[in-house]
Amino acid sequence: MIELLLSRRSTRKFLTRKVEQEKKDKLIEAALLSPTAKNLHSCEFITVENENLIKTLAGSKRHGASFMAEAPMAIVIIGNTDKTDVWVEDAAIAAITVQLEAEGLGLGSCWVQIRNRHYSENKTAGDYVKELLNIPENYEVEAVIAIGYKGTPTKDNLLETLDRSRIHTEKYRS
Ligand SMILES: Cc1cc2nc3c(=O)[nH]c(=O)nc-3n(C[C@H](O)[C@H](O)[C@H](O)COP(=O)(O)O)c2cc1C
Repeated sequence: MIELLLSRRSTRKFLTRKVEQEKKDKLIEAALLSPTAKNLHSCEFITVENENLIKTLAGSKRHGASFMAEAPMAIVIIGNTDKTDVWVEDAAIAAITVQLEAEGLGLGSCWVQIRNRHYSENKTAGDYVKELLNIPENYEVEAVIAIGYKGTPTKDNLLETLDRSRIHTEKYRS
């Protein structure tokens, strides 16, 4: 696990190479295997490979999404707000699980935050994505994970540079 965590970095440049079906199946299995509060499975996933849809998704907010236009695939992570009040946590866990599985499969990925972000002054990024993908009213969009083969190599994280001052023992220090 530490090896995966060291090598996983956000990938925002992708090759045009398609992700093989076998790998797509694994990504979906990882998403479905991620734990959810009370085992209620509050999150659902929309896989998107259609180029036009991905390009339109990349326009869901002004900053931090445009790179996705060139991604060969994306997984939209949505939460059923009727099922639980902790759908955000469920969806976030699923998102990182998918990202780590992607890394393990030799793919790159990047999280595109949708929840609490805006498409325009009057429209949320979530509503923009919901309209685009026919997502029912009682769901919210957490994030879109852009996935594909890495277009540029990423630098691994280093154990030596971890900020260990963020770790507290027994009590928070004064
Ligand atoms: C909750 C969350 C939201 C993020 N939103 C975006 C985003 O909207 N666009 C983007 O390009 N990267 C986004 N990222 C990626 C972070 O910028 C990235 O993980 C962070 O800078 C650390 O870099 P690394 O992933 O290469 O380790 C997000 C990551 C997280 C965990």
